[in-house]
Amino acid sequence: MQPIVFATRNLNKIKEVSPLLSDKIKLQSLDDIGCDDILPETSPTIPENALEKARFVYQNYKVDCFAEDTGLEVEALNGEPGVYSARYAGPAHDDEANMSLLLANLKGEEDRQARFYTVIALIIDGKEHTFEGEARGSIIHHKKGNQGFGYDPLFMPEGYNRTFAQMSAEEKNAISHRGKAVKKLIDFLNQHFS
Ligand code: IMP
Repeated sequence: MQPIVFATRNLNKIKEVSPLLSDKIKLQSLDDIGCDDILPETSPTIPENALEKARFVYQNYKVDCFAEDTGLEVEALNGEPGVYSARYAGPAHDDEANMSLLLANLKGEEDRQARFYTVIALIIDGKEHTFEGEARGSIIHHKKGNQGFGYDPLFMPEGYNRTFAQMSAEEKNAISHRGKAVKKLIDFLNQHFS
């Protein structure tokens, strides 16, 4: 089995991604490699942020790794919160506060279209690769559901009448931004290690 480090401290992301990976891959955490650094996320775009986190781990720990960055882009807010999704309502990374601010900023707005956009940056044998995924949908007026994490209770994917927070992990993964990006990552890794 090939060890690969998932450069994240977000347990929700690890829980979503690990069941999708093939059994050829042994997923390792930052703790497994003794990394207790705060990963840098200072870039102005989602692809650059994903690369920044992966490069940090690769350069400091010399291990094959991948990092992921996701943003919620709302059309009526000119793509906000975007790269600032985690810190929308302040540095506390508070999901409830972020959702309240989003609803307040969309008050009276009829155009509720939005998308989640994920980029996974993989560094393997020193080479960089990126994989993207998006999920289009809309921001509803009141939270619904208690599965998932982040903005899930407010996001209704196109073609569904349930939010991500009203779906099982399998249902969400099948149509989500992260699920799509991870699928591309897996196809690549399966070929690479075949
Ligand atoms: P980051 O990729 O860890 O920087 O996360 C960006 C922000 O988007 C955080 O507030 C997350 O909670 C939120 N987020 C990331 N992925 C999802 C998701 O799949 N559903 C809902 N919110 C998400």
